[in-house]
Amino acid sequence: MTWAGQAAIVTGASGGIGEEIAVQLATAGARVTLAARRPDELERVATRCRSASGRTDDAILVVPCDVTDRTQCESLVASAVAAFGGIDVLVNNAGQGMWGRADEVSDLSIYEAMLRVNYLSAVWLTLAALPHLKTSRGRVLAVGSLSGKIGVPLRSGYAAAKHALTGFMDSLRIELDGTGVSVTMIHPGFVTTGSQARNLGTDGRALGAMPLKVSGGQTPDECAAMLLAGAALRKRDIVPGFRARLGLWLKLLAPTVVDNMASKAIRGRQ
Ligand SMILES: NC(=O)c1ccc[n+]([C@@H]2O[C@H](COP(=O)([O-])OP(=O)(O)OC[C@H]3O[C@@H](n4cnc5c(N)ncnc54)[C@H](OP(=O)(O)O)[C@@H]3O)[C@@H](O)[C@H]2O)c1
Repeated sequence: MTWAGQAAIVTGASGGIGEEIAVQLATAGARVTLAARRPDELERVATRCRSASGRTDDAILVVPCDVTDRTQCESLVASAVAAFGGIDVLVNNAGQGMWGRADEVSDLSIYEAMLRVNYLSAVWLTLAALPHLKTSRGRVLAVGSLSGKIGVPLRSGYAAAKHALTGFMDSLRIELDGTGVSVTMIHPGFVTTGSQARNLGTDGRALGAMPLKVSGGQTPDECAAMLLAGAALRKRDIVPGFRARLGLWLKLLAPTVVDNMASKAIRGRQ
């Protein structure tokens, strides 16, 4: 019931977790604006959304958008408002990782790229959408990462950007107290989207192949469902998996144990 008729924007909707969030929102009756860079993939997801929801009307809007560009973020919000008359739900999901030791990075611009795609995009979009979300007493959702709560080897720039995202959303939540707008973040560990192949390597170029073995982890639809269930209840934080939640508690008591767990988790998948 929560999502029926709601106007939602989903970034990174052309694949992975964002695609599943969009399909689940559409299935639940939301009007969804799909944003990412690849128009063909967005159209494919729009078709999925329309057939999953059984709707043939204009409830799904496709807006090609590079979220690393502030002007495009602001235009995305304006397009969604023009189409649906307001915004009830903003899902900051678009993101990209990096892979490589910090002391081997030859193209230092990847640190800036990590901040733009994983952090600044969410700041720009959230601040542009906030007046509309205040009117609707809506919801801000963000897909962070376990790397936004603990350090992870080979992912320094990504972890730093996701920590920034966590800090922004945690601060915003306090500022929004009393406005009726909630902020819900999910901090997944590993999700089977194949996104690691799109990680930037130490030379600043996408890897093009998986740098680690894929076993276990959440499926993208499980991750999407967990985020939407939490956001429906206006929960603040969702950390999938008992080991991950245990790790966050342990970090307070014995941080080096958590460092070793993170190191082992990466080594175990290489
Ligand atoms: N997969 C995991 O294990 C995992 C774990 C923890 C957190 N996360 C987070 O979950 C989110 C989704 O990840 P995923 O696994 O679904 O990744 P994915 O399959 O690679 O999808 C990433 C999405 O972000 C979009 N995107 C990337 N750069 C963009 C840009 N500059 N402008 C607009 N859209 C952009 C991509 O679309 P286009 O290429 O069409 O632009 C795509 O739709 C990310 O924030 C990621 O950090 C993932």
